[in-house]
Amino acid sequence: MTRLLALSGSLRARSSNGAVLRSALELFDGPTATADIGALPHFNPDLDGEDATPPAPVAALRSAVATADAVLLVSPEYAHGVPGVLKNALDWLVSSGECVDKPIAVITASPFPTGGDHANAQLRETLRMMTGNVIADACREIPAIGPKIDPGTERVTDEPTLADLRTAMAHLAAAATSTTA
Ligand SMILES: Cc1cc2nc3c(=O)[nH]c(=O)nc-3n(C[C@H](O)[C@H](O)[C@H](O)COP(=O)(O)O)c2cc1C
Repeated sequence: MTRLLALSGSLRARSSNGAVLRSALELFDGPTATADIGALPHFNPDLDGEDATPPAPVAALRSAVATADAVLLVSPEYAHGVPGVLKNALDWLVSSGECVDKPIAVITASPFPTGGDHANAQLRETLRMMTGNVIADACREIPAIGPKIDPGTERVTDEPTLADLRTAMAHLAAAATSTTA
């Protein structure tokens, strides 16, 4: 079974991207986990050298990514960019190399009809620079997310979106299976 680790770019308690993340994980065929990136310190290259002992939350993140067969990033867009908390997490993973060749999907959800495309493209570019294996067929931009979520369960309830998420997660699982085979 392929193991999926998910990171959210939103720290908001009732995050719409958090709802998308939970729904995507429930559609993934295999064990899943989430990593809390909110407690990571700000990236500092002085703490990132070969002789440095990484802060505990950084070591935990690196270990979680290393043991996952695939990674899912689900994120909002802030000011046409990637939320700082998520970029910070990725910066901690650049030189340590856990993302190298790792199958990775990027999903951005926005309340707006065309929102999220900048952050989605920026995340994919950063991951390609990190030589992650960005699975294009597993990436999605979800517009107008508000009514597609049930506020009670905090899950996606819009059927076309759920079907599309199921397809995306199947592509990610297939890529992870072929990588680990
Ligand atoms: C500081 C800030 C900047 C934002 N900039 C954008 C943006 O550039 N594009 C966009 O689609 N949404 C933008 N939004 C709206 C977010 O997409 C919206 O707040 C969304 O609900 C945040 O995701 P979440 O529900 O997962 O927390 C911005 C929100 C904030 C707070």
